[in-house]
Amino acid sequence: MSLRPDALRRVAALACMGVIAAPLQASGGDIAYGEYLAGDCTGCHRPEGAEGIPSIAGRAPEDFTAALAAFRDGSRDNPAMRLMAERVTEEEVAALAAYFQTIEPY
Ligand code: HEC
Repeated sequence: MSLRPDALRRVAALACMGVIAAPLQASGGDIAYGEYLAGDCTGCHRPEGAEGIPSIAGRAPEDFTAALAAFRDGSRDNPAMRLMAERVTEEEVAALAAYFQTIEPY
């Protein structure tokens, strides 16, 4: 039995996708999607931080996710962040965490 050329191409394409997907999966979220979503956050969260607003750049994804969960369940009380945390799905939080981790804090 021999593979047809189109089958070979498919195998090669899958192999390439594996290589590209690996770093994304390492952090659990889709960085490009996170960057797209981050527009809702960076109006307040500047990489250098701002008066009363911490920088969230370079944050470990576990801390990031835990902070959003705490705002959502009210154990951290901040009206603006509670609103934001209630609006995002788990997949979006994972993507945001993956993206913000890649940003260098100033
Ligand atoms: C209206 C301004 C505003 C927007 C928009 C906003 N945040 Fe926040 N965020 C804050 C403030 C203020 C705090 C600090 C609250 C506190 O410590 O009680 C905070 C805290 C956080 C923290 C915890 C940081 C730490 O040091 O513990 C995370 C994580 C976070 N925000 C993520 C996000 C994400 C993700 C988005 C976009 C979906 C977002 N924020 C949008 C104002 C904002």
